[in-house]
Amino acid sequence: MTTRNKLLECLKTDKDCWVSGEILSSRLKVSRAAIHKHIKKLRQDGYTIESSTKKGYRIGEYHDLISVHEIQNNLATKTFGRKKILVLKETDSTNMQAKKLAAEGEPEGTIVIAESQHSGRGRKGREWFSPIGSGIYSSMILRPQIPPSEAPGITLMTAVAAAEALISIMGIPVKIKWPNDILLKGKKIIGILTEISTEMDSVDYIVVGIGINVNTPALDFPAALQHSATSLYAETGTRYSRVDLFRIFLQQFEEYYDLFKQEGFEGIRDRWKTHTDIIGKNVVVRKIGEEIAGRIIDIDPAGVLILKDASAKVHRIFSGDLIL
Ligand code: BTN
Repeated sequence: MTTRNKLLECLKTDKDCWVSGEILSSRLKVSRAAIHKHIKKLRQDGYTIESSTKKGYRIGEYHDLISVHEIQNNLATKTFGRKKILVLKETDSTNMQAKKLAAEGEPEGTIVIAESQHSGRGRKGREWFSPIGSGIYSSMILRPQIPPSEAPGITLMTAVAAAEALISIMGIPVKIKWPNDILLKGKKIIGILTEISTEMDSVDYIVVGIGINVNTPALDFPAALQHSATSLYAETGTRYSRVDLFRIFLQQFEEYYDLFKQEGFEGIRDRWKTHTDIIGKNVVVRKIGEEIAGRIIDIDPAGVLILKDASAKVHRIFSGDLIL
């Protein structure tokens, strides 16, 4: 553990109490000047730390603070969250930042996470509402050795991890809407944006971006989203710790990603099916230049949706928007 992290732990142990600079410097075996320097850095990371010449230092509330330390605290992963974690107060889009880092050669497991995005993006150039301090906006770099044709399975696998993380924190079932949405009581609570960079017939990198509406009050959503988007807080009246939820998601994500690398989507398919209610439903699939109406029969081991239309013709749907 670094000196800064040890200092943070000392302050947290004595939360609500003042700890003198003298005690901290003797506990950590560093000078008072070094303590002062680390306190300054912790404040830059977003921690509120009061100081008094007579009493020393006292840490304020950090329950929902997104910082490298809080993410890594009790994190049970081997790769994700173990490499660079770039925490930004504000950015254009974490996917854009992660793609830049990936192009510069940052390894699998690198994460970008922001408190807000001013150009948060969804599929098909849509906007992702990203108000400050109330959601999770994050992107991860993956470098799987798979053919590009298997990459859509990464979105499906991420949806299972995200759905299970949400269920484990709040206990209410959510539903996956193929391919990249997670709905709570019929409204969107999570979106996933997967972007891929290929070289010939191999994957150079994949950036998986995830947006989770955590503590956004219902009335804060723009008018155009009022009927289609929701948050954990809007549905349950409870505020959740974003960092706890993100940690659970990362653990679940890494577990299913490892499985995906070994077995492809087939290894996660049954779990995916337990978290969706689209199978057996009549839907319209909107694709570029065409719409197909029919009943969803199944999802195949490669993650392709199987749909039967009114004339009993079977369609294999690789991509598109689902209208329920
Ligand atoms: C969608 O619903 O179409 C996908 C939404 C994905 C939003 C997330 S928020 C973090 C990451 N950065 C972005 O700009 N988009 C994704």
